[in-house]
Amino acid sequence: MATPDREPLNLSRLAARARYIARQGSRVTWYAGQAYRMRRLQRQAVEKNPSLKPDVKAPDSKVPGVAELLRGVAALSARDLANIEAGLYPPPRADERWSDRIRDARAFFEDLPEVARRRADKRHQDARDAPKADKRPRYYQQNFHFQTDGWMSEESARLYDTQVEVLFSGATATMRRMGLVPVAHFMKGKDQRTVHAVDLATGPGNFAASLADAYPRMPLLALDLSEAYARHALGRVKRSRHQHGMVAKGEEMPFADQALDIMSAVFLFHELPPKIRVAVAQEIARVLKPGGVFVFVDSLQPGDTPDYDGLLELFPQLFHEPYYTSYATTDLIALFTDAGLRVVYEDTAFFSKVLAFEKTK
Ligand SMILES: C[S@@+](CC[C@H](N)C(=O)[O-])C[C@H]1O[C@@H](n2cnc3c(N)ncnc32)[C@H](O)[C@@H]1O
Repeated sequence: MATPDREPLNLSRLAARARYIARQGSRVTWYAGQAYRMRRLQRQAVEKNPSLKPDVKAPDSKVPGVAELLRGVAALSARDLANIEAGLYPPPRADERWSDRIRDARAFFEDLPEVARRRADKRHQDARDAPKADKRPRYYQQNFHFQTDGWMSEESARLYDTQVEVLFSGATATMRRMGLVPVAHFMKGKDQRTVHAVDLATGPGNFAASLADAYPRMPLLALDLSEAYARHALGRVKRSRHQHGMVAKGEEMPFADQALDIMSAVFLFHELPPKIRVAVAQEIARVLKPGGVFVFVDSLQPGDTPDYDGLLELFPQLFHEPYYTSYATTDLIALFTDAGLRVVYEDTAFFSKVLAFEKTK
């Protein structure tokens, strides 16, 4: 029989669960709805103008349908809720305003015809003309995903979250949070004020913000090669004097050897050419302290979740992903082991794969 003093606890847990389900449900409905509208608009545009039809080779593997994908999102959300209830990390921020969502959706749909034109023309070098593009490495000066300005403008940084949330039916932030599980294992028994963390290739700072919410007194740096993205990240992450932002290259980070306890990189490695992938892995190993942890979240590779393989084949054809094919066949464990790290955690979560490595020497 429940004791009287346990009853309020259960009620508050139920209320927190109901809040999570309501927020996650509205998020998924919002972005899955935009994905539906986007597909319909794209079909109509091709009917009117057949030259917009992307040149795509039919995948060898089966492509999952919308219902199957939404079941995947539901399963991921159930795991997220269980992690939150187990105290592994706090619930996501409740600061997504409808006015911002609507503004971003408008901007996303306004940009769509230009993206479709770029995709049909296979045009992915426009980003070279973006301001300060020449100060970035050549491999970086591209319209990744065919997105306007590549990584190099305010507008791109503002649209990015909507673009990826529409792609993954509102589950992108949830996939990223799965990276907080190995962080929680690492933090057990540690004083967060003494742990130094860097979120590499932070983009507009989504994962860095989750880290800051989970460990508000942990010194945290959100780092990206794009000034615009790093600025957005700082706006999202900075809650106190413990959080900072920085513009730098993953393959040449301005930190001393063995300076950091935690490094994370979310959705970075599939965007890097093979040689740079190795250089970034070595750089991560260089800046981590022995016993420090590197948390990796990135795309699934073929075979990880066979039912999704067809979409992994389509993805680099529909979105400009020049290094995705080589990423798909990279032995990731070997990549980081060769750099001096040891794998300590492996998981898959919807379209992502979560790995954690410990610095060995
Ligand atoms: C696909 S986005 C991922 C952003 C974010 N981590 C997320 O969870 O969505 C890739 C990011 O990597 C950054 N990036 C690409 N190459 C980089 C490099 N060599 N060094 C640092 N950042 C890089 C880009 O500017 C972009 O913000």
